[in-house]
Amino acid sequence: MAKQARKEIRPDPVAELWPGQSVALLKALHILTRDGALNADSRRKLKQVLHLAQLIKPAIDWAFAEKTEPVLADLGAGKSYLGFVLYDLFFAKQGRGSVVAIEARHDLIETSRRIAAESGFARMNFVESAIADANVPGGADVVTALHACDTATDEAIAFALRNDAKFIALVPCCQAEVAAMLEDSKKPERQLWRHPIQRREFGAHLTNVLRGLYLEAQGYKVRVTEFVGLEHTLKNEFIFAERHQRANAQARAEFERLKTQFGAAPTLLTFAD
Ligand SMILES: C[S@@+](CC[C@H](N)C(=O)[O-])C[C@H]1O[C@@H](n2cnc3c(N)ncnc32)[C@H](O)[C@@H]1O
Repeated sequence: MAKQARKEIRPDPVAELWPGQSVALLKALHILTRDGALNADSRRKLKQVLHLAQLIKPAIDWAFAEKTEPVLADLGAGKSYLGFVLYDLFFAKQGRGSVVAIEARHDLIETSRRIAAESGFARMNFVESAIADANVPGGADVVTALHACDTATDEAIAFALRNDAKFIALVPCCQAEVAAMLEDSKKPERQLWRHPIQRREFGAHLTNVLRGLYLEAQGYKVRVTEFVGLEHTLKNEFIFAERHQRANAQARAEFERLKTQFGAAPTLLTFAD
């Protein structure tokens, strides 16, 4: 008997979107193809961006409730998928507030500016700059950095502090700096990171632990959770910080203790006295 061709059942990509979300925007961003399909890579990216939107919605709700013109800054924005989706979901409907995307690559900034103009996203701005040098007049209430590479996440933390952001949402990316510092360590704990793969993993873990403590020391309440399932990204730690006081001496002492114990810490995380 001839085998019947099995019909492939594909989930409807539009069913995965938020109510009212712009399909035209997702096509302009090439997340959806012209005929409305999703490939595996864009499905992963869309999943990440929508999940992050869900996680940071309380911060955006706070900003709209407390500020007349709230500002969200997305750092290491890449193709600005996150900024575009947040603008579409929250800022466009409110008719106020702005999204600023900061990205070092000229070509990405140019393309994003064009898409924003074509989409009528007048309160979406793009700054071509290293995060460390970026200046946003008026500051930022909510700061996001999704997979900003290595020390760019620390630049994002410093940016958020300079701008006294109320909320900071970080999903760190690859991390090399602290692992490199551990390499020649003579510390008694060095067996913990003896092999390169262990050094990479331990270095990344220590980096994120210190980032959380650093933010706590600066007066933020910090939650660290899984971002999305490991099937969507391996860079999966979500650090969400909300300012609730000006400083926390105990967290600062813990930060310094760990830094001394392991002899390593992200260079950019230093305290201004
Ligand atoms: C892995 S991509 C992530 C892009 C985007 N956030 C996303 O999740 O789709 C990291 C982006 O950060 C940018 N980047 C890395 N270091 C940066 C820095 N120090 N300042 C500004 N942009 C930076 C890179 O050019 C790249 O576009």
